[in-house]
Amino acid sequence: MCGWVQISRDFGALTFVDLRDRYGITQLVFNAEDDATLAEQVRKLGREYVIAATGTVRERSSKNPNRATGDVEIEVKTLEILNVSKVPPFTIEDDTDGGDDIRMRYRYLDLRRNPVQQNIIFRSRAALETRNFLSSMNFVEVETPFLIKSTPEGARDFVVPSRMNAGQFYALPQSPQTFKQLLMVSGFDRYFQIVKCFRDEDLRADRQPEFTQIDCEMSFVTQEDILQTFEALTKHLFKELIGVELPTFPRMTYDEAMLRYGSDKPDLRFDMSFVELNDLVKGKGFSVFDEAELIVGINATGQATKYSNKDIKDLTEWMKRPQIGAKGLVTVKYEEDGSIKSSVGKFYSDEDLKTWLDQFGAVPGDLLLILSGETERTRKQLSELRLEMGNRMGLRRANDFKPLWVLDFPLLEWDEDAQRFFAMHHPFTSPKKEDVAKMLNGDHETMKNLRADAYDLVLNGVEIGGGSIRIFDRELQAKNFKLLGFTNEEAENQFGFLMGAFEFGAPPHGGIAFGFDRLCSVMNGQNSIRDFIAFPKNNQGRDVMIDAPSEIHDAQLKELSIEVKL
Ligand code: AMO
Repeated sequence: MCGWVQISRDFGALTFVDLRDRYGITQLVFNAEDDATLAEQVRKLGREYVIAATGTVRERSSKNPNRATGDVEIEVKTLEILNVSKVPPFTIEDDTDGGDDIRMRYRYLDLRRNPVQQNIIFRSRAALETRNFLSSMNFVEVETPFLIKSTPEGARDFVVPSRMNAGQFYALPQSPQTFKQLLMVSGFDRYFQIVKCFRDEDLRADRQPEFTQIDCEMSFVTQEDILQTFEALTKHLFKELIGVELPTFPRMTYDEAMLRYGSDKPDLRFDMSFVELNDLVKGKGFSVFDEAELIVGINATGQATKYSNKDIKDLTEWMKRPQIGAKGLVTVKYEEDGSIKSSVGKFYSDEDLKTWLDQFGAVPGDLLLILSGETERTRKQLSELRLEMGNRMGLRRANDFKPLWVLDFPLLEWDEDAQRFFAMHHPFTSPKKEDVAKMLNGDHETMKNLRADAYDLVLNGVEIGGGSIRIFDRELQAKNFKLLGFTNEEAENQFGFLMGAFEFGAPPHGGIAFGFDRLCSVMNGQNSIRDFIAFPKNNQGRDVMIDAPSEIHDAQLKELSIEVKL
């Protein structure tokens, strides 16, 4: 056996070594009484030494049921030290003492740890199963270029200067969107690619500047065909990789998701859906509610006794933090004895409050948490509170999987500050068939209500994938660019190639892209995609192991015709 010394324990005559390799840990036993030279060698062993040992496998007298190989050990006959090791900067065991920074700096050592290694192996299996499934469905894997022209998909581009074209830049693709559409024009019919995408955006646990998509496109399909195909892919991956049989995925419109959960990616592992109270609570002298556009709440079932006044105060403070920005939190406690206590008891009689409780279907022991204010903002804040309560109440279990299709996204989003429309998904998304005429001829207000054949796949509150049916007609595409604030010249300059292609018999087409890193982490009940990326970036977008990004030599800059002024 070859591997690394995890730990060596010397008991005089006998020395035990835990040898770690990709397949697990095996106990080696060295008997000094049998072989003095061997004993001498064993004494030299330190943590992370690389060794090759031969010997006889035998049954252990004291078995370790927590290890796959815990029933056996190897009585060693020969030992070769293949390499020595410095003492590692953190313990290389399932539970390590190393902090985030140090583990990122020595990522190659962190990757020796079994749980991290298993994540990367899982990812490899997931990619293989994806390829198996999609190729069995006749999808062709095609590579598209990384050095391209900037495509607006919501984030900033990473750019690469061109030495041979001074003053000009490539952009790294935020996704292969336009290329996969061109492949449909070329007649490939079904395309996929497991592909790196690059976005210069603020980073979070589920966002990296370079990440991987399972990117797919199909010709001659409806939205329904796409939902069926990729629901089948998701089910296949769950079954093959973690042995989970997912039921038919429920579907919800965007509007319904916002109304019931205040989010376009609701976590359906628990309900706690929103209940609106506007008519019920206005006109009783409580000005905060009277002036609010929306008064909406959730029922934290069975939590009344668990929340003291101090706990409610703390929760209110939590809601007021700048990250959430609520102005306050109204509570109604339905005590076990049937009495009602509310933070706005001054303004509302018990009878009033009882009508609220009824609206929520509350029973004694329940706790209502209510917010008010401007509609969109209030829903967003309540969505955060709902997730927090879900956490506190243990309702977001890691091994519980609740997929959801969110459908009928708005085509365009009006930005009040910028005084312009943005594409809710991306500029190539088609309005619904019944909205095409409205889009070509309607007025400004009409544009706000256009619906798209756009869909997201949500799993446990995480946006796993998104896609749409595309525009494949030059006139409609040009109109969309116009609505998005492009002049004809800008549209022609940036996307003339695509609109030109539409004039040569473009088939109707549509597709989807899954966030592959996210899919892997959610399937394993984890929040951070970093643990599923062999060499991830930190929150500042840095690779601290290789120390990138970094400055480059003046000579390089000169060659690229770039002058740096800081
Ligand atoms: P979209 O922008 O929705 O669609 O991206 C698809 C999926 O990619 C994942 N994702 C990310 N994962 C990790 N880090 C990031 N920074 C990041 N950004 C996105 C998400 C998301 O759902 N071209 C379209 C797809 C299409 O229309 O077919 C696109 O890229 O899980």
